[in-house]
Formats: sequence, C-alpha cells, structure tokens
Amino acid sequence: MKLTNKRYYFDYNSSSPLAKSVIKWFTSGDFFVANPNSLHTSGKKSLKLIRETQNFLFDTFKLGSTHKVFFHSGATEGINTFIINELNQGDGEKHLILFETDHSSAYKIKNITDHYKINLHLKTLVNSDGELQTDQLISFIQTLKGKIIINFTWVNNETGIIWPLMEAVKIKQVTGAFIHVDATQSVCKIKDWNQLSPQLDAYTYSGHKFGSLTGVGFSFYKKDYPIQYLVNGAKGVLHSRPGTPNTTGIYSVYLALSETMKSYDYAESLAAINYLKDNLDQLVKPQGFVVGKNSTNRCTNTISLFLNDKKGQDLLNIFDMNGLEVGVGSACSSGVLGPNRVLIAYGVDENKSNNSIRFSFETDLDMEKAKNYFEMIKKVLMKAI
Ligand SMILES: Cc1ncc(COP(=O)(O)O)c(C=O)c1O
Repeated sequence: MKLTNKRYYFDYNSSSPLAKSVIKWFTSGDFFVANPNSLHTSGKKSLKLIRETQNFLFDTFKLGSTHKVFFHSGATEGINTFIINELNQGDGEKHLILFETDHSSAYKIKNITDHYKINLHLKTLVNSDGELQTDQLISFIQTLKGKIIINFTWVNNETGIIWPLMEAVKIKQVTGAFIHVDATQSVCKIKDWNQLSPQLDAYTYSGHKFGSLTGVGFSFYKKDYPIQYLVNGAKGVLHSRPGTPNTTGIYSVYLALSETMKSYDYAESLAAINYLKDNLDQLVKPQGFVVGKNSTNRCTNTISLFLNDKKGQDLLNIFDMNGLEVGVGSACSSGVLGPNRVLIAYGVDENKSNNSIRFSFETDLDMEKAKNYFEMIKKVLMKAI
C-alpha cells in the first residue's frame, strides 16, 4: 500500500492501516459512544453497535449456534484468557503444549507455568517448510495422561505458513485435547478463513490486523465453557468480560471486517503472492530463499525472505531509507532482536536465524500491484546484497 507520505507499507501482519469505512465513520463526527451499560438512549445506542457487531461476527463465522463471543483488548488477551483458564481449571494432571513457532503472546506463557501444577511441553514438530507434523504430535499426546491444552496457530505471522484447521480437528477428535486456535493472521489471507469448525474450543482474533482500531479483538468459545476472565469487576450486559466495553473499537471491527471481506479475492491474491514468491526466490538465489517456499499451505499476503549473509535489521534499515516499510522476525519487548525461534524450528542455524525480513501486503493484493512491488523490492535488494 502506498501511504500518503509516499512511503510503501509492507507490514500488514504487524498492523493494518485503518479501513476506509472506519476513517469515514470518525470523520462523520457521529461516533460519540456512551457506556453501553448505561440505561439512557445514548447508552442503548452503544449497546446496539455492540449487538450489531456480535451478530455480524456470528453470521460471518457461522458459529452462533455453538459458540459465544467476547470482545477484549486484542489477541494477546484472548490467548492468555483461554490458556490461563485451562491451567486454573481442574485438579488432575495437566499438560500444556506450546510450539516454538507460536507467537510470543502464547509462547511466553511458559514463563508463568511454574505457578501452576502442570507439565509444560515446548514442541517444534514442523518440517523445514514450517508444516506441522500432526501424526507425530498425536503420537506424542498419546503418551501423556490427563488434560491436554494446545495453542494451535492457524497462520504463522512471520512466515505465512498455514496449519490447516482440519489438522486441529483431527487432533481434537483423536486426543480430546482442549484446542485454542490462534486465528489472528487468518482473516482474508487464506481460502476458507471464515469456515470455523464448531468442534474446536476457542478462536482468537485482533481487529487491527484487518483495519479496525488497535486495542480491540474478539474470541469465540463454546457455549458451555466456564470462562474466567483475566480481570475482575462489574459484568457487562451483552457479554460478561468485566470493564466498560470499548464500543468504538468493537464497532470498528464490524466496519473494517465487512470492508476487508468485500475486497478479498482469494484466487487473485494467491496468484499475486505466488508471483512475488517465485520471483523473489529466484532473485536472491543462491544467497537466500523464500522461507517455506515449497509448502502449498501458504497464505496470500506474507513472504519471509532469508539471506545467508545479511542481518534482517540491517536490511530493514536499508528498505526504510528507500521508503519501504517491512518487518523483521521476533522483536522482543525492548525492540531488540533475539534469536528467531520460528526460523530455528524450521531448521535454520541459530546464528543466522535473524537473517530474514518479512513482507506482508494488503489482503487485496493483485497481479498489477505484485509486479510493481517486485520491481521496487528488487531495486533495494540489488543494492543491499
Ligand atoms: C499470530 C499472532 N498471534 C497473536 C498476536 C498478538 O496480537 P496483539 O498484539 O494484537 O495482541 C499476533 C500479533 O502480531 C499474531 O500475529
């Protein structure tokens, strides 16, 4: 996407620019939102906005008969809610399975597991293209006794590799594990992004990945699930997460998602991303490659490029100086790059695990944009490598 300051933005997996419909809503001036728990007319208007958003999400993801939804501050909160809930519930033996390829919002829960009586398993279980080795995972689970808790990342934020949802369903059917699906990067980036299985326990999303305000997200969970929220306080009217709901943010989810899904053409974006993948891979050969290039389970907006002798951070700076905004792997909270555990899991040497950059494009990518972006990226890469 070309930004108004003439820069190009290729970092949608970090955050998407606001959807046009959200900007229009704000500029219309009609976005005063009262507390939806208030009983006056303005309060009821806010409540209506939340109800509309809820109904829209149930219609879009078709989970209304089996699941409830709650709004939160974003996927980090959603993921923590379910995993910590599961750690807290029941007295029997428990096993938490996290993957080296998980986003930090799930992976870092490992740091608090000492407070719970659980067994922590940090797993790799992917091949060099990032594909989950489901049968191995199932065999491993079958050696365990007690409750199993799994965070299943549907689309990897760094590499765009998809773990098909049917694999999660299979794991559920065979092992009965509690499965939370981190669906944060799935919206309008894969074919059946809104075909959720009612069998899986919970799904989590962040609105700012598809054009809503930041600081708002939502999770689906089974109707009979005894959810405990991370915060305590007065319960709301429409859903019970304590605290005053962020009505502005929640309604921006409705606006942004309805706009984004209208402009998403899976076949067109797939052709465009494949064009970029093949041409970039060819361009950097033999000094580098597109990560996970051989997988057929790739999303339609993300390319992670590995380069043998270049640090991702240095490349990012060169791209930045040339007006292109790209992403690098696993920036930790201080903004300093640690070893990239995702690439290490894919088999990259630890010392080189930071030699990658990520391009994540708008969801309505098409061939014309792809050709244009390729020329721009090529120009910078040719100077850099
Ligand atoms: C796969 C995945 N899960 C979870 C998150 C956390 O989302 P948020 O930062 O909006 O809480 C992200 C953010 O990039 C993500 O990509």
